[in-house]
Amino acid sequence: MKVLFLNGPNLNLLGTREPGVYGRSTLAAIEARVRRRAGELGIAVEWRQSNLEGELVTWIQQAAGAFDFLVLNAAAYTHTSVALRDAIAAAGVPTLEVHLSNVHAREEFRHRSLIAAVCRGVIAGFGSTSYLLALEAVNALATEAASSA
Ligand code: DQA
Repeated sequence: MKVLFLNGPNLNLLGTREPGVYGRSTLAAIEARVRRRAGELGIAVEWRQSNLEGELVTWIQQAAGAFDFLVLNAAAYTHTSVALRDAIAAAGVPTLEVHLSNVHAREEFRHRSLIAAVCRGVIAGFGSTSYLLALEAVNALATEAASSA
């Protein structure tokens, strides 16, 4: 099974970016944790980050037929991007929306996600563990699908 993790704008700054909100783990440290657990589960992980909306759109389009699941922290684009939503819907790859912070406990403009309705589910508020929980969810969904096939 192949899972593509996509990270949106400003997530390259994790570690120093508002640590009170996002914690002190760098994106590379989170990636290492995910890769360790993925290795145990026998899941192949591809990991990318971009500050550019169009680049994320292209990667989502290209995921069709190449990946079994997409784990997406669209960061600020979560709240603004019809283009990302349309790309997820078009690609048809089951997508999990993740956030480090609990967006519902923050500013009102973060309460609305333009992508949630086209995602399989949403995990938010567990810091870097949100990514690990997404990986566990992907594993459970794949196991479920295999046993009902
Ligand atoms: C975020 C939450 C977004 O509202 C914010 O714009 C981010 C990070 C999170 O992981 O908590 O950049 O997606």
